[in-house]
Amino acid sequence: MRMNAIPDTPPNTNLQSVLHPAGWDAAIISQFAWVLFIAGAVIFVAVMALLVLSLRKQERPARALLWIGGGGIAFPVVVLTALLGWSTWRSAEMAPQSSRDALTISVTAKMWWWEVRYHDPATGREIVTANEIHIPTGRAVYLGLNSADVIHSLWVPALAGKRDMVPGRVTGLTLRADKPGIYRGQCAEYCGEQHAKMALHVVASAPADFDAWLARQALPAAAPSDPLLVRGREAYLAQRCQACHTIRGVDEGANLGPDLTHVGSRMHIGAGTLKTHRASLQGWIADPQASKPGVFMPGSPELDRETLAALASYLEHLK
Ligand code: CUA
Repeated sequence: MRMNAIPDTPPNTNLQSVLHPAGWDAAIISQFAWVLFIAGAVIFVAVMALLVLSLRKQERPARALLWIGGGGIAFPVVVLTALLGWSTWRSAEMAPQSSRDALTISVTAKMWWWEVRYHDPATGREIVTANEIHIPTGRAVYLGLNSADVIHSLWVPALAGKRDMVPGRVTGLTLRADKPGIYRGQCAEYCGEQHAKMALHVVASAPADFDAWLARQALPAAAPSDPLLVRGREAYLAQRCQACHTIRGVDEGANLGPDLTHVGSRMHIGAGTLKTHRASLQGWIADPQASKPGVFMPGSPELDRETLAALASYLEHLK
Protein backbone atom coordinates (compact mmCIF):
# COMPACT_ATOMS: atom_id res chain seq x y z
CA MET A 1 0.00 0.00 0.00
CA ARG A 2 1.53 3.30 -1.07
CA MET A 3 0.76 6.07 1.37
CA ASN A 4 0.86 8.83 -1.22
CA ALA A 5 -1.83 7.06 -3.19
CA ILE A 6 -4.46 7.30 -0.45
CA PRO A 7 -7.62 8.81 -1.93
CA ASP A 8 -9.86 11.36 -0.20
CA THR A 9 -11.96 8.74 1.51
CA PRO A 10 -9.72 5.86 2.51
CA PRO A 11 -11.76 2.79 1.52
CA ASN A 12 -9.99 0.61 4.02
CA THR A 13 -10.58 2.64 7.19
CA ASN A 14 -11.69 0.08 9.71
CA LEU A 15 -14.46 0.50 12.22
CA GLN A 16 -13.43 2.17 15.45
CA SER A 17 -14.70 -0.75 17.47
CA VAL A 18 -13.51 -3.12 20.19
CA LEU A 19 -15.69 -5.77 18.56
CA HIS A 20 -13.72 -5.60 15.27
CA PRO A 21 -10.20 -6.42 16.44
CA ALA A 22 -7.30 -6.28 13.99
CA GLY A 23 -4.50 -7.41 16.26
CA TRP A 24 -3.70 -10.24 18.63
CA ASP A 25 -4.07 -8.17 21.81
CA ALA A 26 -7.24 -6.49 20.63
CA ALA A 27 -8.69 -9.93 19.84
CA ILE A 28 -8.12 -10.99 23.46
CA ILE A 29 -9.75 -7.78 24.73
CA SER A 30 -12.67 -8.37 22.40
CA GLN A 31 -13.02 -11.92 23.75
CA PHE A 32 -13.15 -10.51 27.32
CA ALA A 33 -15.93 -8.16 26.24
CA TRP A 34 -17.99 -10.98 24.71
CA VAL A 35 -17.52 -13.42 27.60
CA LEU A 36 -18.43 -10.79 30.20
CA PHE A 37 -21.41 -9.62 28.15
CA ILE A 38 -22.79 -13.12 27.56
CA ALA A 39 -22.16 -14.31 31.14
CA GLY A 40 -23.75 -11.12 32.49
CA ALA A 41 -26.77 -11.54 30.20
CA VAL A 42 -27.31 -15.20 31.21
CA ILE A 43 -27.11 -14.37 34.93
CA PHE A 44 -29.40 -11.37 34.51
CA VAL A 45 -32.04 -13.45 32.74
CA ALA A 46 -31.78 -16.19 35.42
CA VAL A 47 -32.20 -13.67 38.25
CA MET A 48 -35.20 -12.08 36.54
CA ALA A 49 -36.77 -15.53 36.05
CA LEU A 50 -36.30 -16.26 39.77
CA LEU A 51 -37.86 -12.91 40.59
CA VAL A 52 -40.95 -13.71 38.52
CA LEU A 53 -41.19 -17.17 40.15
CA SER A 54 -40.92 -15.69 43.65
CA LEU A 55 -43.76 -13.27 42.91
CA ARG A 56 -46.00 -16.08 41.68
CA LYS A 57 -45.47 -18.66 44.43
CA GLN A 58 -45.67 -16.62 47.58
CA GLU A 59 -47.14 -19.37 49.81
CA ARG A 60 -43.95 -21.53 49.88
CA PRO A 61 -41.32 -20.40 52.38
CA ALA A 62 -37.92 -19.72 50.77
CA ARG A 63 -34.93 -21.82 51.86
CA ALA A 64 -32.65 -19.19 53.34
CA LEU A 65 -29.43 -21.24 53.32
CA LEU A 66 -29.85 -22.26 49.68
CA TRP A 67 -30.68 -18.82 48.31
CA ILE A 68 -28.55 -16.56 50.53
CA GLY A 69 -25.61 -18.88 51.15
CA GLY A 70 -25.69 -20.59 47.76
CA GLY A 71 -27.08 -17.98 45.36
CA GLY A 72 -25.89 -14.87 47.18
CA ILE A 73 -22.38 -15.92 48.30
CA ALA A 74 -21.14 -19.22 46.80
CA PHE A 75 -22.36 -18.58 43.24
CA PRO A 76 -20.78 -15.08 42.85
CA VAL A 77 -17.54 -16.28 44.49
CA VAL A 78 -17.26 -19.22 42.08
CA VAL A 79 -18.22 -17.20 38.99
CA LEU A 80 -16.00 -14.20 39.77
CA THR A 81 -13.04 -16.40 40.74
CA ALA A 82 -13.38 -18.35 37.49
CA LEU A 83 -13.55 -15.12 35.45
CA LEU A 84 -10.56 -13.66 37.30
CA GLY A 85 -8.51 -16.81 36.73
CA TRP A 86 -9.45 -17.04 33.05
CA SER A 87 -8.84 -13.34 32.31
CA THR A 88 -5.49 -13.40 34.13
CA TRP A 89 -4.44 -16.46 32.12
CA ARG A 90 -5.55 -14.85 28.82
CA SER A 91 -3.90 -11.51 29.68
CA ALA A 92 -0.55 -13.28 29.98
CA GLU A 93 -0.72 -13.90 26.22
CA MET A 94 -0.89 -10.20 25.46
CA ALA A 95 2.23 -8.36 24.31
CA PRO A 96 4.40 -7.09 27.18
CA GLN A 97 4.04 -3.35 27.81
CA SER A 98 7.72 -2.80 27.18
CA SER A 99 9.93 -1.22 24.54
CA ARG A 100 12.15 -4.32 24.50
CA ASP A 101 12.32 -5.88 21.00
CA ALA A 102 9.67 -3.41 19.85
CA LEU A 103 9.74 -0.52 17.44
CA THR A 104 9.49 2.54 19.66
CA ILE A 105 7.52 5.61 18.65
CA SER A 106 6.94 8.56 20.93
CA VAL A 107 3.53 10.22 21.04
CA THR A 108 2.86 13.48 22.87
CA ALA A 109 -0.73 14.59 23.35
CA LYS A 110 -1.41 18.28 23.07
CA MET A 111 -4.64 20.27 23.15
CA TRP A 112 -6.04 18.94 20.70
CA TRP A 113 -3.73 16.94 18.50
CA TRP A 114 -0.99 14.30 18.63
CA GLU A 115 2.72 14.81 18.00
CA VAL A 116 4.39 11.64 16.75
CA ARG A 117 8.19 11.11 16.76
CA TYR A 118 10.22 8.37 15.09
CA HIS A 119 13.91 7.60 15.09
CA ASP A 120 15.34 7.70 11.60
CA PRO A 121 17.26 4.39 11.36
CA ALA A 122 19.50 5.92 8.67
CA THR A 123 20.67 9.01 10.54
CA GLY A 124 19.53 8.54 14.14
CA ARG A 125 17.73 11.89 13.91
CA GLU A 126 14.14 12.40 14.94
CA ILE A 127 11.34 12.49 12.39
CA VAL A 128 8.35 14.46 13.64
CA THR A 129 4.85 14.17 12.27
CA ALA A 130 1.32 14.51 13.63
CA ASN A 131 -2.04 12.80 14.09
CA GLU A 132 -1.10 9.69 12.10
CA ILE A 133 0.87 6.83 13.57
CA HIS A 134 2.36 4.61 10.87
CA ILE A 135 3.37 1.15 12.04
CA PRO A 136 4.62 -2.02 10.37
CA THR A 137 2.38 -5.09 10.59
CA GLY A 138 3.41 -8.26 12.35
CA ARG A 139 5.59 -6.81 15.07
CA ALA A 140 5.17 -5.14 18.42
CA VAL A 141 5.22 -1.36 18.39
CA TYR A 142 5.75 0.40 21.70
CA LEU A 143 4.27 3.87 21.98
CA GLY A 144 6.01 6.02 24.60
CA LEU A 145 3.20 8.32 25.74
CA ASN A 146 3.38 11.76 27.29
CA SER A 147 1.27 14.88 27.51
CA ALA A 148 2.29 18.50 27.09
CA ASP A 149 -0.64 20.02 28.98
CA VAL A 150 -3.57 18.13 30.53
CA ILE A 151 -4.49 14.44 30.87
CA HIS A 152 -5.40 12.82 27.55
CA SER A 153 -5.86 9.15 26.73
CA LEU A 154 -4.88 7.23 23.63
CA TRP A 155 -7.34 4.64 22.42
CA VAL A 156 -7.32 2.73 19.13
CA PRO A 157 -10.00 0.12 19.91
CA ALA A 158 -9.23 -2.19 16.97
CA LEU A 159 -5.59 -2.57 18.06
CA ALA A 160 -5.23 -2.30 21.85
CA GLY A 161 -6.65 -1.07 25.13
CA LYS A 162 -6.40 2.55 26.14
CA ARG A 163 -3.74 4.34 28.13
CA ASP A 164 -3.82 7.69 29.88
CA MET A 165 -1.29 10.33 28.89
CA VAL A 166 -0.33 12.32 31.96
CA PRO A 167 1.74 15.52 31.97
CA GLY A 168 5.18 14.96 33.49
CA ARG A 169 4.94 11.19 33.31
CA VAL A 170 5.87 8.76 30.54
CA THR A 171 3.47 5.87 30.08
CA GLY A 172 3.48 3.30 27.32
CA LEU A 173 1.25 1.13 25.19
CA THR A 174 2.11 -1.78 22.92
CA LEU A 175 0.26 -2.10 19.60
CA ARG A 176 0.28 -5.08 17.26
CA ALA A 177 -1.53 -5.03 13.94
CA ASP A 178 -2.00 -8.31 12.07
CA LYS A 179 -2.98 -6.90 8.71
CA PRO A 180 -2.48 -3.64 6.81
CA GLY A 181 -5.20 -1.10 7.30
CA ILE A 182 -6.18 2.24 8.70
CA TYR A 183 -7.46 2.17 12.24
CA ARG A 184 -9.17 5.19 13.74
CA GLY A 185 -8.57 6.11 17.33
CA GLN A 186 -9.35 9.03 19.54
CA CYS A 187 -8.63 10.77 22.79
CA ALA A 188 -10.54 8.93 25.49
CA GLU A 189 -10.18 11.37 28.39
CA TYR A 190 -12.03 14.67 28.47
CA CYS A 191 -9.39 17.32 27.87
CA GLY A 192 -11.25 20.52 27.09
CA GLU A 193 -13.32 22.18 24.43
CA GLN A 194 -12.11 20.15 21.44
CA HIS A 195 -11.72 16.74 23.13
CA ALA A 196 -14.24 15.36 20.61
CA LYS A 197 -12.10 16.49 17.67
CA MET A 198 -8.90 14.86 18.89
CA ALA A 199 -8.80 11.86 16.60
CA LEU A 200 -5.83 9.97 15.23
CA HIS A 201 -5.31 7.27 12.64
CA VAL A 202 -2.99 4.31 12.89
CA VAL A 203 -1.82 3.28 9.43
CA ALA A 204 -0.49 -0.26 9.48
CA SER A 205 1.42 -1.38 6.41
CA ALA A 206 3.73 -4.20 5.39
CA PRO A 207 7.25 -3.72 6.84
CA ALA A 208 8.78 -2.79 3.44
CA ASP A 209 6.06 -0.18 2.83
CA PHE A 210 6.54 1.19 6.32
CA ASP A 211 10.30 1.53 5.75
CA ALA A 212 9.67 3.34 2.47
CA TRP A 213 7.21 5.67 4.15
CA LEU A 214 9.66 6.44 6.95
CA ALA A 215 12.43 7.16 4.45
CA ARG A 216 10.17 9.64 2.63
CA GLN A 217 9.20 11.32 5.91
CA ALA A 218 12.88 11.70 6.78
CA LEU A 219 13.44 13.91 3.76
CA PRO A 220 13.16 17.68 4.14
CA ALA A 221 10.30 19.43 2.37
CA ALA A 222 10.50 19.49 -1.41
CA ALA A 223 11.54 22.91 -2.74
CA PRO A 224 8.89 24.20 -5.13
CA SER A 225 9.65 25.52 -8.63
CA ASP A 226 6.08 26.25 -9.72
CA PRO A 227 5.44 30.04 -9.30
CA LEU A 228 2.17 29.42 -7.41
CA LEU A 229 3.92 27.16 -4.89
CA VAL A 230 6.85 29.58 -4.55
CA ARG A 231 4.34 32.30 -3.77
CA GLY A 232 2.72 29.98 -1.23
CA ARG A 233 6.03 29.39 0.53
CA GLU A 234 6.65 33.15 0.64
CA ALA A 235 3.19 33.64 2.16
CA TYR A 236 3.99 30.96 4.74
CA LEU A 237 7.05 32.91 5.87
CA ALA A 238 5.37 36.34 5.61
CA GLN A 239 2.44 35.15 7.76
CA ARG A 240 4.96 33.96 10.40
CA CYS A 241 3.49 30.43 10.31
CA GLN A 242 6.97 29.25 11.35
CA ALA A 243 6.45 30.79 14.80
CA CYS A 244 4.38 27.72 15.67
CA HIS A 245 5.02 25.20 12.86
CA THR A 246 8.13 23.53 11.45
CA ILE A 247 8.74 22.72 7.81
CA ARG A 248 12.10 20.99 7.64
CA GLY A 249 14.20 22.63 4.96
CA VAL A 250 12.33 25.93 5.32
CA ASP A 251 12.30 26.91 8.98
CA GLU A 252 12.81 24.56 11.88
CA GLY A 253 12.51 24.56 15.66
CA ALA A 254 8.93 25.52 16.47
CA ASN A 255 6.63 22.79 17.78
CA LEU A 256 3.61 24.62 19.18
CA GLY A 257 1.60 23.39 16.22
CA PRO A 258 1.95 20.23 14.12
CA ASP A 259 5.08 19.71 11.99
CA LEU A 260 4.06 20.48 8.41
CA THR A 261 7.07 19.06 6.53
CA HIS A 262 4.87 16.38 4.92
CA VAL A 263 1.42 17.66 5.82
CA GLY A 264 0.15 16.96 2.30
CA SER A 265 0.85 13.25 2.78
CA ARG A 266 -1.46 13.03 5.79
CA MET A 267 -5.10 12.07 5.36
CA HIS A 268 -6.49 14.74 7.67
CA ILE A 269 -5.84 18.14 9.16
CA GLY A 270 -6.97 19.34 12.57
CA ALA A 271 -6.55 15.86 14.16
CA GLY A 272 -9.12 14.07 12.02
CA THR A 273 -11.32 17.15 11.64
CA LEU A 274 -11.05 17.68 7.85
CA LYS A 275 -9.75 15.65 4.91
CA THR A 276 -6.52 17.12 3.56
CA HIS A 277 -6.99 18.92 0.25
CA ARG A 278 -6.51 22.40 -1.03
CA ALA A 279 -10.01 23.68 -0.24
CA SER A 280 -9.97 22.40 3.33
CA LEU A 281 -6.46 23.81 3.92
CA GLN A 282 -7.61 27.16 2.55
CA GLY A 283 -10.66 27.25 4.82
CA TRP A 284 -8.66 26.11 7.82
CA ILE A 285 -5.96 28.79 7.38
CA ALA A 286 -8.54 31.55 6.88
CA ASP A 287 -10.64 30.56 9.89
CA PRO A 288 -9.70 27.46 11.91
CA GLN A 289 -12.23 28.45 14.58
CA ALA A 290 -15.03 27.72 12.11
CA SER A 291 -14.15 23.99 12.00
CA LYS A 292 -12.68 23.59 15.48
CA PRO A 293 -13.76 26.34 17.89
CA GLY A 294 -11.22 27.03 20.63
CA VAL A 295 -8.23 25.68 18.67
CA PHE A 296 -5.09 27.70 19.43
CA MET A 297 -4.34 28.56 15.81
CA PRO A 298 -5.38 32.11 14.92
CA GLY A 299 -7.20 32.80 11.66
CA SER A 300 -5.90 34.91 8.78
CA PRO A 301 -8.92 36.93 7.68
CA GLU A 302 -6.67 39.58 6.12
CA LEU A 303 -5.23 37.20 3.45
CA ASP A 304 -6.53 37.82 -0.06
CA ARG A 305 -7.95 34.88 -2.00
CA GLU A 306 -4.95 34.39 -4.31
CA THR A 307 -2.41 34.36 -1.48
CA LEU A 308 -4.60 31.98 0.50
CA ALA A 309 -4.93 29.67 -2.51
CA ALA A 310 -1.15 29.77 -3.07
CA LEU A 311 -0.44 28.98 0.59
CA ALA A 312 -2.93 26.09 0.59
CA SER A 313 -1.48 24.73 -2.66
CA TYR A 314 2.04 24.91 -1.21
CA LEU A 315 1.01 22.96 1.92
CA GLU A 316 -0.94 20.41 -0.12
CA HIS A 317 2.11 19.73 -2.28
CA LEU A 318 4.22 18.87 0.81
CA LYS A 319 3.78 15.12 0.32
CU1 CUA B 1 -7.28 14.92 24.51
CU2 CUA B 1 -9.49 14.40 25.19
